[in-house]
Amino acid sequence: MFITFEGIDGSGKSTQARLLAGKLEALGREVVLTREPGGSPGAEEIRALLVEGDPDRWSAETEILLFTAARRDHLERRIAPALKAGQIVISDRFADSTRVYQGATRGERRAMVDSLHAQMIGTEPDLTMIIDMDPDAALSRGLARDSGEDRFEEFGAAFQHKLRAGFLGLAEEYPERCLVIDGAQGADEVSADVLAAVEARLA
Ligand code: TMP
Repeated sequence: MFITFEGIDGSGKSTQARLLAGKLEALGREVVLTREPGGSPGAEEIRALLVEGDPDRWSAETEILLFTAARRDHLERRIAPALKAGQIVISDRFADSTRVYQGATRGERRAMVDSLHAQMIGTEPDLTMIIDMDPDAALSRGLARDSGEDRFEEFGAAFQHKLRAGFLGLAEEYPERCLVIDGAQGADEVSADVLAAVEARLA
């Protein structure tokens, strides 16, 4: 089973991915917890190019190519082998992030994202948790972390509002695999909602 977590910056999805991995392991499942951009040594190198530095460092088109290159390496070296071995793969972000961040926020580039995805990736998650959150609250949480990886947060609040709308739009587009979870609740409540959804799917 391939599970992804998606949402705007600061939505709490990384915490939720980690909590879910721990709970599934406690239930005796073999779990691979990974993230994008990154998740394999080569893709982690590409990550640094993407998340650090000036917001105008790359055009949206160049970003699509870099994210897709990182994803292809991650898929070949980490995700596909783990799924083949029967493990549960949990990824903190995957292709839906490219559909929204690069495909729908700075002009309409969704067709370009989709065509590259079809050629180079061709894999969709079985289940996608979209952790939904008020963009202003999420942005201050994200920037407060001061991680040095805030190139996308630097695009500002209007960008985060567009992202949220983009993720909610994807949930409508792919209702069979996407689930919107209310991220404004406490982390434990969110985690309980997530586990219930995954257990229903596993059953
Ligand atoms: P993270 O903060 O969730 O680790 O993600 C790093 C940043 O990269 C985040 O601001 C979202 C952005 N991103 C994209 O723009 N497109 C993508 O395809 C992915 C995976 C991430």
